[in-house]
Amino acid sequence: MTPPVLQASDLTKRFGDFTAVNGISFHIKPGEILGLLGPNGAGKTTTIQMLLGLVTPTSGSIHMFGLDLSTHREEILQQVNFSSTYLSMPQSLTVEENLWVVGRLYGMSDMARRVDAIVKKLEMEEFRGKITRKLSSGQMTRLTLAKAFLTEPQILFLDEPTASLDPDVAFKVRSLLKEARRSSGLSILYTSHNMREMEEMSDRIIFLQRGRIVATGTAQEIIDRFGKTDLEEVFLKFAQEQGHSVS
Ligand SMILES: Nc1ncnc2c1ncn2[C@@H]1O[C@H](COP(=O)(O)OP(=O)(O)OP(=O)(O)O)[C@@H](O)[C@H]1O
Ligand SMILES: [Mg+2]
Repeated sequence: MTPPVLQASDLTKRFGDFTAVNGISFHIKPGEILGLLGPNGAGKTTTIQMLLGLVTPTSGSIHMFGLDLSTHREEILQQVNFSSTYLSMPQSLTVEENLWVVGRLYGMSDMARRVDAIVKKLEMEEFRGKITRKLSSGQMTRLTLAKAFLTEPQILFLDEPTASLDPDVAFKVRSLLKEARRSSGLSILYTSHNMREMEEMSDRIIFLQRGRIVATGTAQEIIDRFGKTDLEEVFLKFAQEQGHSVS
């Protein structure tokens, strides 16, 4: 059996008395798209931030490519990238300049070709020279995706990558992700509040509620287990149980 590219074991994050992530364990296989699902405040972003080394776990361990993140941070993060709505980039640089900065940080060569390729793939030609501060939210989302793809990572963490994209661009982004997985065996951890997208994209889903894993399996397995007709119904069940208050 191929070893997982990522293994999180008994991961917990407490902020003061509040437990945001509560002893979760999961893995991602090479070339797998794992969906991380759960109501607002369930702990998805906190989990991704721990996987990126941005937030230190209170306890538990994270291994990627067989290496421990707490001791091989740089080596691991070189092979990883992410996209999220909370990502901030230098606002006074143009889109293209921001991509060059990312390339430099990762020590990438052949940047002109890479930037051209990703700009073309994400249809960003029209705003590649625009100052980042002036981007619409959908353009900003595309920039953060371009940044994530630019470094040709082996694992991508995508926190709501299609939020604020129009349906046409969202469709293209999903196609791009599937193609990258097919052609280069990219592994992806994905969050979205769009249940149809989750069903379409995820090989497997982990359902979080109040920081705990309450279900895992394929979308169909989870739907069947709870006797529902689609993922949205399962989601509503867990969201209503959790209560919509984000503490
Ligand atoms: N730095 C922090 N200090 C205190 N509490 C925090 C901090 N970061 C997150 N939390 C809390 O941890 C819980 C989980 O937040 P998180 O952002 O991981 O949820 P999420 O599943 O990503 O939600 P959403 O769907 O709204 O993006 C929330 O109750 C949040 O308020
Ligand atoms: Mg979040």
